Amino acid sequence: MSQMENAGAVSEVGANTVTVIGLGLMGSALAKAFVEKGHSVTVWNREPARVEPLVATGATGAPTPADAVRSSGTVVVCVSDYDAVGDVLDAAGEALAGRTLVNLTSGTPEQCRQAAARVQEAGVTYLDGAIMAIPPFIGQPQAMLLYSGSKSAFDENQALLESLGTGIYLGEDAGLAALYDLGLLCSMWSMLMGYFHAAALVGTENVSAAEFTPLVSGWLTGLIGFLPQVAEEIDKRDYATDVSKLAASAAGLEHLVHASQAQGIGVDVVAPIKDLIDRGMKAGYADESLSALMELIRQPAPSS
Ligand SMILES: NC(=O)c1ccc[n+]([C@@H]2O[C@H](COP(=O)([O-])OP(=O)(O)OC[C@H]3O[C@@H](n4cnc5c(N)ncnc54)[C@H](OP(=O)(O)O)[C@@H]3O)[C@@H](O)[C@H]2O)c1
Repeated sequence: MSQMENAGAVSEVGANTVTVIGLGLMGSALAKAFVEKGHSVTVWNREPARVEPLVATGATGAPTPADAVRSSGTVVVCVSDYDAVGDVLDAAGEALAGRTLVNLTSGTPEQCRQAAARVQEAGVTYLDGAIMAIPPFIGQPQAMLLYSGSKSAFDENQALLESLGTGIYLGEDAGLAALYDLGLLCSMWSMLMGYFHAAALVGTENVSAAEFTPLVSGWLTGLIGFLPQVAEEIDKRDYATDVSKLAASAAGLEHLVHASQAQGIGVDVVAPIKDLIDRGMKAGYADESLSALMELIRQPAPSS
């Protein structure tokens, strides 16, 4: 089918239509939310057994990715990774031309930009998305979804995408949503790893995680209130402090590593933090605030 013929087909599909390709845990939640918000939903999944539960809720199953794509002007893809995205795009072929692809598969900024370039060459409008929620929250306002890529695609599909949760548009660069996604996940993973180590440390004296956690929650809540001030230090690259010096954190990390070893637990989480602080001390930031470590973190990784 030529692009011209296919573009004609796009104008014939109903306004309220959407196709979902990939019905894993997340794709199924997305398709279900679209159905519940009254959209006409076509679905395809590589393993056909995953289609039936969605059809039972009111979606229509399509026999091939190309057929699924032809049913709607907007096509949402949510599969495991970018190899799978490539397989789906290969299978959809020219059917995608003239349509909007909303790719909600997690990846790196580079992978998103490559996917955008690939489909844009084929006449497809590309919007990338990162889902900052787990499947049970999809369809509720507290589910946050980050988008980047075509602004017009975001604007035109805003009502449709609101079926999934609260959407935040970040900019025309298709890689931005993935960049923010990784940034937010980095904050979460680092915080949880610190909490895991802390729970292990107090656990050496038979303090349960449940007993310890209310103190952690209160402590972290206070810390979050302090983040805008830290952000200002980072953005201005001005780390002067009359509150707490890097040297104090260096002493604290020394205690933490020794205490962890003395209490009989590993230092996998805390040793790299100590190493970074020690490098900051050697680099001359002893009297500056902890955020001076940004000057080291911003450096490229040493080549191995
Ligand atoms: N689950 C979450 O909490 C969550 C949260 C945020 C973001 N995400 C992101 O959402 C995406 C999907 O995650 P998920 O939890 O739904 O994973 P999942 O349950 O493992 O589902 C993976 C999906 O990808 C499909 N797939 C894999 N390889 C394929 C290929 N070569 N060709 C066509 N389809 C292929 C699978 O099809 P088959 O059924 O045929 O195997 C299935 O539909 C991932 O990028 C993930 O990072 C997930």
